[in-house]
Amino acid sequence: MSNYVELFHRLDALLVSNCQFWQFMPFAERGFVWQQNPQFCQWLMSIDDSQLQLLSQDIHALTTALLPWIKDAEQLTQIAAEVSPLVRTERSVPQGFESGIPGRKWQQITAFNEVLPRLGLPWLEWCAGKGYLGRVLAVSHQQPVTSLEWQQQLCVDGEQAAKQLQLDINFVHSDAFSIESDTAIVQQQHAVALHACGDLHVSLLQRVAAKKGAAVSISPCCYHLIRQSHYQPMSAAAKTSALVLSKHDLRLPLQETVTAGNRVRQLRFVEVSFRLGFDLLQRELNQTDTYLAVPNVQKALLTQGFEAFCQWAAAKKGLDLPLNIDFEYWQRQGELRFAITERMELVRQLFRRPLEMWLVLDRACFLEEQGYNVVIGSFCDKPITPRNVLIHAERGDL
Ligand SMILES: C[S@@+](CC[C@H](N)C(=O)[O-])C[C@H]1O[C@@H](n2cnc3c(N)ncnc32)[C@H](O)[C@@H]1O
Repeated sequence: MSNYVELFHRLDALLVSNCQFWQFMPFAERGFVWQQNPQFCQWLMSIDDSQLQLLSQDIHALTTALLPWIKDAEQLTQIAAEVSPLVRTERSVPQGFESGIPGRKWQQITAFNEVLPRLGLPWLEWCAGKGYLGRVLAVSHQQPVTSLEWQQQLCVDGEQAAKQLQLDINFVHSDAFSIESDTAIVQQQHAVALHACGDLHVSLLQRVAAKKGAAVSISPCCYHLIRQSHYQPMSAAAKTSALVLSKHDLRLPLQETVTAGNRVRQLRFVEVSFRLGFDLLQRELNQTDTYLAVPNVQKALLTQGFEAFCQWAAAKKGLDLPLNIDFEYWQRQGELRFAITERMELVRQLFRRPLEMWLVLDRACFLEEQGYNVVIGSFCDKPITPRNVLIHAERGDL
């Protein structure tokens, strides 16, 4: 059993046995889902907002705080931290190459390039956008690049930039899921995908493996962008897992807590508590226990107060509001539910990186099964991009 398969099974067991702490939709629940553990709920409610902020930004503090309630907290955080930075080899890129590329994207691209081995193979850049990465690969490896992208304008812009920089880049305007795009994948090639979403990178890995492509390196993102209703495990290891992941579950790895200022936090409090309050009201009126999604709202409407919001939401949903509604009561209920929802989201944060690792390991195990030597690591620091995991695979017989 490889290290990755072993790690996958350990992580899988932890995620399965603790699924009551993360596999649910907080905003769809009326109250805490842990009613059978009232002390845990009381403790969560005793956390004030500044502590909540603190814990949501410090995984180690969160782990320690949750340890009395979730005995596997430490182990989960430890396993998720088993991604070490990949070794970077300095690769100089001529001046001017960064022109027109947003700062963070440039840092991601140079970091990605610097952790890739020099295999002397032509490159395939999957879901290339304007081919920013391809430009850097072309110049620092002196190998031709094929950049496949779906949006025509991005291909046009990318082609123009490549021409100006005199680079050997060929854009293929194609849907990555189409049969035709298959012809872009060949055996003697190093395929790369920087932040290709969900099924787009999954289908690349499957097709590279099917063609016994020499090497592939991806940094996955947007795990929830899949064509099926639920996650389709790739590896034999994940196929035996008891976990069935919905799109909502698959969003968890991307739910990074961003440090928002007071004003943004206050706006969010108003909007979300209004929505949750209205939802409780409609549950009462409709005699249902099902969450009712309400469309996006113009922020100006929120300044008109809860009642105006309810009138608007009811009209949108074709719901008749009786005249005797105690709007103050439902607003308070919404605010209380907001506090509960936030605390349930806080607990789910403990599982964010472990779930991402489960998904990354599924890809790594799949590639190993297909005859590849696989390395997982981080290619840059998290402030540059939270999606900083890179999976690199080379055929054993290369
Ligand atoms: C998140 S962007 C990443 C772009 C680039 N790799 C980067 O990191 O700058 C994803 C890219 O995938 C492209 N894309 C989306 N669906 C596609 C499809 N079905 N076939 C090919 N490209 C697709 C989008 O147009 C977009 O340029």
